[in-house]
Amino acid sequence: MRFRRQTAAYRAVVLAAFIVVMLTGCVERVRAQADRKRIRIRLEPFSADGMTGDRELIEYAFYNLLTNAVKYSPPDTEVTVAGHRDNGRLRISVRDQGYGMSRQELREIFTKFYRTRKAEASGEAGTGIGISIVQQIITHHGGRIEVLGEPGKGSCFTVVMPAGEATPEPQVH
Ligand SMILES: Nc1ncnc2c1ncn2[C@@H]1O[C@H](COP(=O)(O)OP(=O)(O)OP(=O)(O)O)[C@@H](O)[C@H]1O
Ligand SMILES: [Mg+2]
Repeated sequence: MRFRRQTAAYRAVVLAAFIVVMLTGCVERVRAQADRKRIRIRLEPFSADGMTGDRELIEYAFYNLLTNAVKYSPPDTEVTVAGHRDNGRLRISVRDQGYGMSRQELREIFTKFYRTRKAEASGEAGTGIGISIVQQIITHHGGRIEVLGEPGKGSCFTVVMPAGEATPEPQVH
């Protein structure tokens, strides 16, 4: 995916004050889906001082991570969103108590259209491209995405963003 320079420049705003509000909005949007499975979503407040970026793209990224956490978890579990600062970087994680993934699956999920067997069998709708778009969005902001998980023990996706001058890099066409 390519992001147009103008769009990125126009929408680049300081996210610091907005990120928890934005995440609250994302949580509200997945609430009905989570309620159907009695999945509790916990958002731990944190400060995102110094974090900048394209609000719509970052929102898309976290919304996808949250919907995944809810889609690929059994009923009566919990999803936790938390952030903290580490070596001048901001780490925001979305952790679930869901199906988890094997090592091989963890390597494959960034490939477009890939879905795990468990995801296919879950009956949850999906195209298998969300995560690859999330990865592109985060990379575009100078960050990276880390994922940990084990089959049956849940997954944890962590977005690591520079907490300084993290405006999107202009794209030259
Ligand atoms: N939190 C998670 N727990 C377990 N498996 C996950 C999780 N997040 C992603 N996956 C696996 O990675 C695959 C790719 O995720 P991705 O978000 O790209 O696609 P999707 O959710 O299937 O469809 P969509 O394109 O609509 O988001 C999923 O189909 C699922 O197999
Ligand atoms: Mg998805």
